[in-house]
Amino acid sequence: MAFDRSIKIAPSILAADFANFGAEVRAVEAEGADWIHVDVMDGHFVPNLTFGPPMVKALRRHVTTVMDVHLMISPVDAYIAAFADAGADVLTAHVEAGPHIHRTLQAIRGAGMKAGVALNPGTPAGAVAHVLDLCDLICVMTVNPGFGGQSFIDMSDKIAELRRVIGDREIHIEIDGGVDVKTAPTVARAGADVLVAGSAVFRGGSVGDPAPYGENIRAIRAAAEG
Ligand code: DX5
Ligand code: ZN
Repeated sequence: MAFDRSIKIAPSILAADFANFGAEVRAVEAEGADWIHVDVMDGHFVPNLTFGPPMVKALRRHVTTVMDVHLMISPVDAYIAAFADAGADVLTAHVEAGPHIHRTLQAIRGAGMKAGVALNPGTPAGAVAHVLDLCDLICVMTVNPGFGGQSFIDMSDKIAELRRVIGDREIHIEIDGGVDVKTAPTVARAGADVLVAGSAVFRGGSVGDPAPYGENIRAIRAAAEG
């Protein structure tokens, strides 16, 4: 995974057909997805429940790009090995998920994955100031986590502050929640490079008719790069 700060569109499979994940991943990658964003929810850290390591492992053989696993779970550490075994390329933990984010990021890297840390809308950028050298990605939530299709919460100041403190470190700034053609320019201008989009990518298409996936991805990318 060579580092570059070009715009990457990461469709979130939370908005895909849960009965057809393999076909959906193949379709959305064929339509131009750069990464695949996989939302793991435990019904404890967030008020929703999706799937765990077995599903992620089954998905792995269909992902040819980057499997970007977003853990909305607490605690995290006990599951790191299982997600490494499942084949996650990037594993992102929420700074709010427990008291030891420093140790969690060390453990994720120790398991051979790229380490990400996610910040909920109410969490200041300073919460990651002391772990910048332990992470490869910072995920700025622009919705309160748990569901797709929510309204965008503008976090431009936090994104710009992170972009400043990161400096020339090879750390991706990922934006997650409510990203579409309207909000993409805002977050790109603030300094983001990975744009997660669920409903804005999967809307209007299906495994049988994936063309809208490509149209949606191209529109979001053009809006971000414009
Ligand atoms: C929310 C998830 C997001 C969500 C994005 O808890 O972390 O990845 O699926 O979906 P949209 O793009 O529809 O807001
Ligand atoms: Zn997510």
